[in-house]
Amino acid sequence: MKVVVRDYQSDDWLPVEQMVLNAENFGTAFLEHEKRKVAAFTSFPQLGKVIVAKDPGNGRVLGYAALQFEWKALVITSIISHHNYLRHGIGRKLVDRIKAIGEMHPDTDVIRVDTGDFMDYAHRFYLSCGFTKVGYVQHYLSWHNHQVIFAYQLKRRETE
Ligand SMILES: CC(C)(COP(=O)(O)OP(=O)(O)OC[C@H]1O[C@@H](n2cnc3c(N)ncnc32)[C@H](O)[C@@H]1OP(=O)(O)O)[C@@H](O)C(=O)NCCC(=O)NCCS
Repeated sequence: MKVVVRDYQSDDWLPVEQMVLNAENFGTAFLEHEKRKVAAFTSFPQLGKVIVAKDPGNGRVLGYAALQFEWKALVITSIISHHNYLRHGIGRKLVDRIKAIGEMHPDTDVIRVDTGDFMDYAHRFYLSCGFTKVGYVQHYLSWHNHQVIFAYQLKRRETE
């Protein structure tokens, strides 16, 4: 499937909102939080970045990711593909762009993401995008929520 990935613009919010509402393991409970993140990262680009995947033919938004710049790490705080277009390569295209952003950012060594221990599809997705499982944390987002941590090493050198 042909998609282009570009920086988020303010008129992308409505389709992004729909994707948050319709995505497995997201939904209404996440909406206000996502909205605040998008507002913060677009207002303060040194804190983070929001990207969208679009169909170049009709301009439809088919994917969304929010990224936070931490010390030496680029953290994927959300990544969602449109629920009608799963397994069409949109998530991988978003991750390819995230890797490029990380490579360009001089102080960033690693991309990190955490996901629920029960979200087998997400584990398979990150592994297929070249991430390694690096940790497991109990009681992480809330009590009884357990998260698996994945990481991708940036700026690999020939000698390593
Ligand atoms: C996780 C998510 C972003 C993946 O997006 P996607 O566009 O469907 O992923 P892609 O089509 O690029 O998949 C790339 C590869 O990841 C793996 N993969 C993706 N989804 C998978 C699934 N449900 N089961 C097994 N493997 C999967 C496959 O290896 C796939 O390659 P293939 O289709 O050629 O076999 C998507 O499932 C999603 O939006 N889920 C709801 C929101 C969510 O849970 N986000 C992650 C929060 S941590």
